[in-house]
Amino acid sequence: MQEYTLLISEKEIQARIKELGEEICQRYKDEPLVALCVLKGSVLFFADIVRELPSATALDFVALSSYGNKTVSSGEITFSKGLSLSIEGKHVLVFEDIVDSGLTMTYLKKYLETQNPKSVAVCTLLDKPSRRKVDLVPEFIGFKIPDKFVVGYGLDFDEKYRPLRDVCVLEPWVYQD
Ligand code: IMP
Repeated sequence: MQEYTLLISEKEIQARIKELGEEICQRYKDEPLVALCVLKGSVLFFADIVRELPSATALDFVALSSYGNKTVSSGEITFSKGLSLSIEGKHVLVFEDIVDSGLTMTYLKKYLETQNPKSVAVCTLLDKPSRRKVDLVPEFIGFKIPDKFVVGYGLDFDEKYRPLRDVCVLEPWVYQD
């Protein structure tokens, strides 16, 4: 039985990343920018989009998690890897795979603000606005998607499906008991 169905193809993702890259370059021009990857789900998106950004862009990584191996948020966020660069006085652009309830990004933005950056903004590949529990609007959005559990292009279910080149909807029978 098919485990997943195509939602956004590799071609569509790559075309949108070029557009987002242009929007981001327009917005920050030549000002110092730290691009922050939220591990692990954003790693493929991050690797592709930073190649559209100015060569002076600094790269850093944090690891946060609000999901165990389930498809619903526990609401509990853990910070398992912090910043390794100073962001003081710099623009920070956070790259996220998907914004769902918005709790993870709200938590991360609050933390980043304590480090005195010039600004903090969020660029998410996917946005599920219908699931929002807090008032968080990402500054850059790749695709708005319906309330379906998606995998691929970095997104996982139970650490599987991350290497898929497309974003796919996981069939409920895979994760429902
Ligand atoms: P939020 O805190 O509810 O906004 O959740 C954000 C995190 O939940 C993302 O970084 C993902 O790790 C995970 N997540 C939310 N929806 C999905 C999905 O459809 N597929 C895979 N992971 C998801």
